Amino acid sequence: METLHPSDFDRVGGEQGLRRIIEDFTARVFGDVMIGFLFEGKPHARITEMEYRFAAAHLGGPVGYTGRPLGEAHRSSPILGGHFQRRRKILLDTLGDHGVPEDVVARWLAEVDRHRDAILGRGVDATHCDHAAQAARPRASRPSKNLLGGS
Ligand code: HEM
Repeated sequence: METLHPSDFDRVGGEQGLRRIIEDFTARVFGDVMIGFLFEGKPHARITEMEYRFAAAHLGGPVGYTGRPLGEAHRSSPILGGHFQRRRKILLDTLGDHGVPEDVVARWLAEVDRHRDAILGRGVDATHCDHAAQAARPRASRPSKNLLGGS
């Protein structure tokens, strides 16, 4: 029974409440100075609808996700760990501004983090700098000596 055991979907205000949150979220993401460029030319209305469906489904709402699998949907976008963290922070701020209860926020972000590897594609740990990948990146020139003077 909904009144005895409301789902997280119910607790964010059902369809109306969640759509309001997601619309705000995608508007922030599309206009963001750090990650907005990744969304240039991308379909805002479709992404908003698919983000809504994805969230509604994992929040226990009576809605199914009908978009592409996340790995496939993000494969052609050059998303780095920092971009992932930025989207995560925008989501956290948005949920806070809409008064989403803390326990719901925690479960929502845990769900986001579960998909990190699929979004980034290579199993990168998005919570830290990826020094190994950085070191492996080809460079035009590399100092031959340790500039700090160590051995
Ligand atoms: C767990 C985290 C994420 C979730 C749940 C998510 C969810 C989604 C969904 C549902 C779509 C629409 C899929 C479709 O069209 O079938 C989408 C598309 C997209 N997302 Fe994400 N996303 C996540 C992380 C990110 C991050 C970190 C970025 C970049 C900062 C990003 C950038 C994009 C872009 C650019 C598209 C459009 C792809 C295209 O149409 O070519 N997403 N995302």
